[in-house]
Amino acid sequence: MNPSSVRIGMIGYQFMGKAHSHAYRDLPFYFDPPVTPVLQAVSGRNEEKVKQAAEKLGWQSYETDWRRLIERDDIDMIDIVTPNHTHAEMAVAAAEAGKHILCEKPLALTVEQAERMHEAAEKNAIVHMIAHNYRFAPAVAYAKKLISEGRLGEINHVRAQYLQDWLVDPEAPLVWRLSKDISGSGTLGDIGSHSIDLARYLVGEITELVSTMKTFVKERPLAESSAGLSGKANEEKKGEVEVDDAAAFLATFENGALGVFEATRYAGGNRNGNRIEINGSKGSLRWDMENMNHLEVYFENDEPGLQGFRTIHCTEEDHPYAGNYWPAGHMIGYEHTFIHLAYEMMKGIHSGSAPVPNFRDGVINQRLLAAIEQSHQTRQWVKTGGGEHETN
Ligand SMILES: NC(=O)c1ccc[n+]([C@@H]2O[C@H](COP(=O)([O-])OP(=O)(O)OC[C@H]3O[C@@H](n4cnc5c(N)ncnc54)[C@H](O)[C@@H]3O)[C@@H](O)[C@H]2O)c1
Repeated sequence: MNPSSVRIGMIGYQFMGKAHSHAYRDLPFYFDPPVTPVLQAVSGRNEEKVKQAAEKLGWQSYETDWRRLIERDDIDMIDIVTPNHTHAEMAVAAAEAGKHILCEKPLALTVEQAERMHEAAEKNAIVHMIAHNYRFAPAVAYAKKLISEGRLGEINHVRAQYLQDWLVDPEAPLVWRLSKDISGSGTLGDIGSHSIDLARYLVGEITELVSTMKTFVKERPLAESSAGLSGKANEEKKGEVEVDDAAAFLATFENGALGVFEATRYAGGNRNGNRIEINGSKGSLRWDMENMNHLEVYFENDEPGLQGFRTIHCTEEDHPYAGNYWPAGHMIGYEHTFIHLAYEMMKGIHSGSAPVPNFRDGVINQRLLAAIEQSHQTRQWVKTGGGEHETN
C-alpha cells in the first residue's frame, strides 16, 4: 500500500454507489485527508453497465466479479454498496483478504451474519466502518458535542422518527427492499436502523424495548428493474410483500432515558423526514434531515421572557466539518455527509485506529432490529443486552 493513498474497490454502483463515489472524489477537494482515496476499480455483474458506471462515476477500471475485485493486489479497501443479503459474504471475504471495509447499512440480514462480519474484521485487523452517514451532518455532530458537554443535563426523552412516503401508492413495484431474503426486514432495517444509530450516538445504549410492526399492502407488482427507492413495475405479475411497511417501538436507555421511535414509508408528504428530538433536564434539541443544516436548541437557563427554541444554522467554523466548505450561511447537503464519513475512514486507515460507527455498532444495531421483530412477534418487552458485545 502506498502510504499516501488508499486504493478503493467498490462493489455496486447505483444509489449508494453514486453517493460514495462522489464522496471519494470530493474529499481531497475540501479536506486534507492524511491518505487520499483513489477510485481504483468498481465491480458489477453486467459488463456494459459497470463499464458505463466506471466512466460516469470516475473509476479507473472495472471488474464483473466482486471476488476478483477483492483478490486484486492493487486494492487496499473494499466499499460494499450492494443490497443487504450480499454484505456478509463480501465483507468476510474482503476481511480475509486483508482489505479495509466500508459497508452500507444495515450490516447484514441477521445477527449471526453481522457477528461473523465483525469477527472476521477484528481477526484480520482491518479498519471497518458502517455507513450510517447521518451522524456526519454538521448539525448532528454538533448536537453530540452539546450533549457530551452536559448542556442538556440528564437526558429524559428521545423522540425519533424516520418518515418516508414512497410506498403510499399500492402500485409501486416490489423492489428488493420489500423482499425479506434480500433486505432482512423492511422499513425497520432500511430507515429505522438510521434512527437507532442516531439515538445510540447521541444518547447511548438501549436496554429494553417493546414494538409493533405493520404491513399495509401485502401484494405489489413485481419490479422489472430497480435503482435506489424506485423501480419499473411489471403490469401483469404480482408478488408478496414479505417485510414491514412501518415499525414503532418504545425503548429505555442505559442512562434512564425513555425513547419513542417510528419508521414508515407511508407518511404522505414526508420524503426523507429523518428527525430526532432530545429533551434533558437543562435543555432540548431537535434536528430534521429535510432541513439538515439547522439545529434547534432550547436551554432552561436562558433569560425568562426569551426562553424558547432557537435555530442555529450549523454552517460556522465552530460546527464540525462545516468550516471546510463555504463562508457561514452557505449550505451543504445530503452528499456531504458521505464526504465526512469517507474522511473518518481515511483517518482511521492512516492511524490504524477504529473509526465509528464501525461493525461493532453494526452488530448492536442488528441486535436491536432483531429484538424489535421479536417483541412484535411475541407481544412482549425484550431485554437487549445494551452495548455488550465482544468478539470471540
Ligand atoms: N446510508 C444510506 O443512507 C443509504 C441509502 C440508501 C441505501 N443504503 C444501503 O446501501 C445498499 C445499496 O442500496 P442502494 O439503494 O444503493 O441499492 P441499488 O439498488 O440502487 O444498487 C444496488 C447495486 O448493487 C448491485 N447488486 C445487486 N445485487 C448484487 C449482487 N448479488 N452481486 C453484486 N452486485 C449486486 C446492483 O447492480 C447495483 O449496482 C443497501 O445495503 C442499502 O440499505 C444506504
